[in-house]
Amino acid sequence: MLPKDPSRDELAFLLEGGGPDPDLFAAARDELLRSIGGGVYLRGLIEISNTCRKNCLYCGLRRDRKALDRYSMEPDEVLDALAVGYRMGLRSFLLQSGEMLGRDHIEKVAWILRRCREELPGARMVLSLGELTEEDFDMLRASGGERYLLRIECSSPSLYGRFHPDDSLHSHGGRMGAIRYLRDSGWQTGTGVLIGLPLQTCGDLADDLLFIRDMDVDMVGMGPYVESPGTPLAEVAGPAPDPGTRTVLTLRMTALVRLMNRGVNIAATTALQTLSTDGLERGLLAGANVVMPNLTPAPYRWKYDLYSGKSEVSDSPEQIIGELSERCRSIGRELVLEDPGDPPHYRERMMEMQERHG
Ligand code: 5AD
Ligand code: SF4
Repeated sequence: MLPKDPSRDELAFLLEGGGPDPDLFAAARDELLRSIGGGVYLRGLIEISNTCRKNCLYCGLRRDRKALDRYSMEPDEVLDALAVGYRMGLRSFLLQSGEMLGRDHIEKVAWILRRCREELPGARMVLSLGELTEEDFDMLRASGGERYLLRIECSSPSLYGRFHPDDSLHSHGGRMGAIRYLRDSGWQTGTGVLIGLPLQTCGDLADDLLFIRDMDVDMVGMGPYVESPGTPLAEVAGPAPDPGTRTVLTLRMTALVRLMNRGVNIAATTALQTLSTDGLERGLLAGANVVMPNLTPAPYRWKYDLYSGKSEVSDSPEQIIGELSERCRSIGRELVLEDPGDPPHYRERMMEMQERHG
């Protein structure tokens, strides 16, 4: 149903709903079963600090949002939260924060990674800490980091320019360079985009799909835009598409990424679950195979306030995993425990890299 090398116009047509969705989602599920299988992998999310030096116009953690109470978890608090997840059978954890280049922050993450290597054998550590220097990326990898997520947010430079301040801190080229560096220096690399921003067209999203394919990344995390009160985008931009439309666009994007990128891991994101109560099931049924239960302890979880409605769940980690397991089973899928869930795409890419470099 999808041509081998779909054009921008063909992709935009499918995103606009020109093609029948059930067929698209079924094709994506078939592809998932063929290339990876039906298992659902877990990444335990720990939001280690909500401080950020950037000022993205859509984000509740932006530097100029003075009303937000900023925190940094103590390393021991992070280790305790990781240990809870590890005991429940999780074998991959995502440490996420706003972007900070200070030595204290980077050294703290490196210290946590080294401790994890000793205390959580077999756990695959994922980082999402923004654009760091190449030296810091290398140092974190040497300390035990293996996967890195850095969304391009908008692959089109002009659209990126519309949603970010016009300064060197928010450079589209710099961000692209950082993603390429991660990919080429051996990290399992993930990227993704925001879906359903005001003024974004299906042509823009088609460009995002082509960007993700051409970047040849191993993991994809994309979510719908969710308004964040008090941010410039929520206050002054024109309206975004309605939540139902943003949800369906995200599902179509998920299915198309699955069909265009063999063997990658795709997350059913928190933002999708925020906009749609059954977003988790719908994301998995459109080709996603990863979920990221939030293990951040209260009260930090409430303060990682990216957008409205994000952290309303107050369940314990045990309750969260139990509910996830039931919800997966209700659609014929199984949570996979005791397994870091490496994407086959990464193995293949590393083998190709080795062949090329002898
Ligand atoms: N809606 C949805 N996602 C958002 N993010 C930031 N702000 C929003 C928002 N208003 C996402 C960005 C970033 C990730 C940490 O959160 O894509 O990469
Ligand atoms: Fe910072 Fe990321 Fe939010 Fe931008 S999207 S302000 S980089 S946390």
